[in-house]
Amino acid sequence: MAEPKKNRDSFGSKIGIVAAAAGSAVGLGNIYRFPCEAGNNGGGAFLIVYLIVVLVLGIPAMLSEFVIGRSAQANPVGSFKKLAPKTAWPIVGYLGVICGFIILSFYSTVSGWTLEYIVKSVANDFHGKDLAAIEQDFADFHNMGWKNVLWQAIFIFLTGFVVFKGVQNGIEKYAKILMPVLLLILVVLGVRSLTLPGAKEGLTFLFNPDFSKITGKVLINALGQAFFSLSVGMGAMITYGSYIQKNDNLTTTALSVTLADTLIAILAGIVIFPAAFSFGIRPEAGTGLVFNTLPLIFNQITGGYFFCIIFFVLLAVAALTSTISLLEVVVAYFVEELHMTRKGATVVACVANMALGVFASLSLKTGTSIQIAGLPLFGALDFFSSNILLPLGGLLIVLFVGWFMGKKRFYKEVTNEGEVKLHVKGVILFIIRFIAPVAIAIIFVSGLVK
Ligand code: PHE
Repeated sequence: MAEPKKNRDSFGSKIGIVAAAAGSAVGLGNIYRFPCEAGNNGGGAFLIVYLIVVLVLGIPAMLSEFVIGRSAQANPVGSFKKLAPKTAWPIVGYLGVICGFIILSFYSTVSGWTLEYIVKSVANDFHGKDLAAIEQDFADFHNMGWKNVLWQAIFIFLTGFVVFKGVQNGIEKYAKILMPVLLLILVVLGVRSLTLPGAKEGLTFLFNPDFSKITGKVLINALGQAFFSLSVGMGAMITYGSYIQKNDNLTTTALSVTLADTLIAILAGIVIFPAAFSFGIRPEAGTGLVFNTLPLIFNQITGGYFFCIIFFVLLAVAALTSTISLLEVVVAYFVEELHMTRKGATVVACVANMALGVFASLSLKTGTSIQIAGLPLFGALDFFSSNILLPLGGLLIVLFVGWFMGKKRFYKEVTNEGEVKLHVKGVILFIIRFIAPVAIAIIFVSGLVK
């Protein structure tokens, strides 16, 4: 296998790769989107399906992306071109770049909210407010469209800044230190949430599955959420995989990232639901679920003022390490396939993304007509990318690795040419070949028929 070309970045240390890939995976998907989805899809029933999907479909899909990226040493489009020249496979790469672009356009909206909430918490804006007042503030903020757009633009700028500086100086440095702190703060919040009056109801909601609630809609939403949260199905992990060094263990990396991601999502659920039930916020409250519940919890904590600031700063950083990976997919494609400079590619990608993102943000104002198929553009972009493009991409990616690359190349890559002993490689390949594609296809079709 050829050495990585000199002009490509690579991650400096083992912890660096895990931190950067976990940085991509852990983000608003865990802390904001997971509670929303669980709340809207029956709580415990959703959690059970979600965990099975992560284990059986998410891990093989992530490993497949690492295998593609590291063996090809290129962006998603370039990877398929290299591994499957003169075929239609590069279409999967193009789909990924488009999907990354779309996700970034609405993800940056919510990322912008985290900045607004940092400012609000520094100004001690939540102090002494009850649920009604906090909900009103959130609604008022949405209706100030320009403010959302401004924060979104600032967030995109920050993302562009880190991506422009390149992999080692940018992404890795920040992710390593800040992710563990986020975990710690979630634990503190979890303890407070669990000791609120009426917290038990929230725990029951999340951990006591009512199996009759598992419908086609729950399945497709859990599949979309799992792929979204793990950053798989669109080539982010192909791109990061291309920066992983030849002697790193792909399987343990995929397992560690998945473990960290799943732990943080469940922790977020343990923070949000008990508190939401205790304060009388409905689990189906959607966008407001997290942004309204959290300030209320902080109001109940000694030193809540400081915790609140630190939390929203960390949430913004978690979002940033995810937007970086989304933008990186687009930029790596521009640089390697269209031969743009890194600077030019970053500027073009950011400006183009803002052009779409503005409408995603503005579509959340009350009474706006920025809608597609009856959904605000924000929700429509989310649905289309998470529930359609990601599962489709994931399906094609496992098919590619299982059937096109084949046994020999797969084993060679996951064992680092025989260096790593991986006793379960046959089982993993079996899942990638048969179980994952069939299961994704079934869930996908059952969800779309609805
Ligand atoms: N996984 C990220 C999150 O949970 C979002 C993301 C999706 C990032 C797809 C990259 C690719 O917040």
